[in-house]
Amino acid sequence: MLCLALLLAFTSLAPTTAQSTPATPTLREMADKNKFYVGAAVYTYHLSDPLHVETVKTQFNMMTPENEAKACELQKARGVFNFTKMDQLMDFAEQNNMVFRGHTLVWHSCTPNWFSNGKFSRDEAIQILRDHIMTVVGRYKGRIPIWDVVNEGIADGNGKMRVTPWQQMIGDDYIELAFRFAHEADPEALLFYNDYGAEGMNAKSDAIYNMVKDFKARGVPIDGVGLQAHLTLGDTRNGRGASPRIMGENIKRLGELGVQVQLTEVDIKHKGEPTEDILRQEAAEYRSVLQTCLDSGYCTAFIVWGVTDKYSWLRDSRFYDNPKVAPLLFDDHYQPKPAFTAILDLLARRAGEPPILSDDEVAILTGEKKPDSGAGAAAVPAPTKSDPAQLAPDSVAGAVYYAPFPVTITLDGETDDWTNVPRVTVDKGPTLPAGNDTSYQFAVTADDKKLYFLAEVKDSKLAYGTHNPASEWYLEDSVEFYLNTTGDLKLGEYKPGVVQIGILAANITKPDAPLIGGGNSDTSQVSVVAVKTEDGYRIEASVPLVTDAWKIVPAHMGVLGFQSHLNGSSADTRDTKLIWSAADTQDESWSNPSVFGQLVFWDKTK
Ligand code: XIL
Repeated sequence: MLCLALLLAFTSLAPTTAQSTPATPTLREMADKNKFYVGAAVYTYHLSDPLHVETVKTQFNMMTPENEAKACELQKARGVFNFTKMDQLMDFAEQNNMVFRGHTLVWHSCTPNWFSNGKFSRDEAIQILRDHIMTVVGRYKGRIPIWDVVNEGIADGNGKMRVTPWQQMIGDDYIELAFRFAHEADPEALLFYNDYGAEGMNAKSDAIYNMVKDFKARGVPIDGVGLQAHLTLGDTRNGRGASPRIMGENIKRLGELGVQVQLTEVDIKHKGEPTEDILRQEAAEYRSVLQTCLDSGYCTAFIVWGVTDKYSWLRDSRFYDNPKVAPLLFDDHYQPKPAFTAILDLLARRAGEPPILSDDEVAILTGEKKPDSGAGAAAVPAPTKSDPAQLAPDSVAGAVYYAPFPVTITLDGETDDWTNVPRVTVDKGPTLPAGNDTSYQFAVTADDKKLYFLAEVKDSKLAYGTHNPASEWYLEDSVEFYLNTTGDLKLGEYKPGVVQIGILAANITKPDAPLIGGGNSDTSQVSVVAVKTEDGYRIEASVPLVTDAWKIVPAHMGVLGFQSHLNGSSADTRDTKLIWSAADTQDESWSNPSVFGQLVFWDKTK
């Protein structure tokens, strides 16, 4: 299956390294042993940091300029090229025997202003494209073996051509022309199309696949596809775009067209502080992505978008909103992170070298063995009641809610029938605006026909009725109740019987059918009443105990997976996210029921 002609001729590209062998093998050594490329994006300013220099040259056998080969950097005025920084990077790579990956000749985000703002005829624009590519690729002919010729040429969502200055002035064939010019400038260089959000199977990756197929059929010189892999924690989980199955399928179909694939800009973003748990998940996902790449047989390089977290582009608020984000392999002090060790171990094992991690550590990383699990699977602690009148014990913060039964509720917007049903206040979550004043209380109960939910929301500025309730309901004021009725509280994905019921504040307007959203919510048969209150709004809702999707039988100490969220907006989009279950630190309950907490039924007559 592995078509050798497709793979980079590793031996011809990878000059032998002349490093002394340290006690722990380096990533670079393990990459070399696998005849594989592990690269990093580098900026010239990094080179004045000695620790950076040391880390890059010992750990990576490939590098790519993070910014300084882009057209808006190289050709700031028409016909005036400045190669000073590129030369510095090129020299560094050559001095350290690293393969240089050229990034990138044509990219809408870094097109010189004089071109974007100019008015050129198709012929003039083609001439400008040709001049740029001939000059840049020509200058480094024989020294840069791989070029990202066009970056991000396909639009998000629909798989159509992205509208860019090049596309507008030349037409859709600017991509093919760029490849032809690059080939003319250096017939030996491998030419890649590079894009983001195309790791899995979707409209964009379909469009790329079709473009490559067409290029191959018509002899347009293309050798590879770069999948950027700017990922978010959770993206490799089963069913998501970077999961082994889906990304594996995409890489395979590209490989079968006769091109190679490289993961060209890997980083993994997350919310909040990089806790131990986040770093462990990050390590698992780095390993998973590399494994999918290696297993495919068509993937020849793994390039991270930076070396140390402290210089990551994601620390820049223009690109991401978490100044604490730690998306790379080395921490702010160049210490290797768990993600580094995870991929080093994978490469070591694949090369038949002594493993770096124990088998147990690997099993925990890959999810085959569970570490001590989160609240979702925690043992139920001995129940206590702080108020004897309460119909069920006190909740355990963020983990267990005791729902008394039987209690019958009328959905009328009044709360007298909720008296003595325990209430939980939720005022914490991953997204809170400055001076947040939104919080809510929820309560749950059941009789022999229905499960009832109450949410009392304190919110000084209601915002609802402006989004499409089918797709964007969570961007405006809404409360969510989640159930996992499958009995498997460790379930990591949605199945029938798992439901996210998002209930919009817009139900205050009394629509004919309840306004709801969320995974499987259409199977919930939920009824809703929503009313405005003095300081916010109130939602009462109920679902049948028996539906096509589940059969819930309230029994004393019987357990359901359960979770509740609140989405708050004060103007046009969500600015508040409150979450009850403490196991859900990343707002991932919409896709992962294992982070729910528990609802424990309590027979109030006992
Ligand atoms: C980013 C750089 O990391 C930033 O420093 C720069 O300001 C903007 O570009 N996809 C790409 C990369 O292909 O070139 C981008 O790099 C990140 C997204």
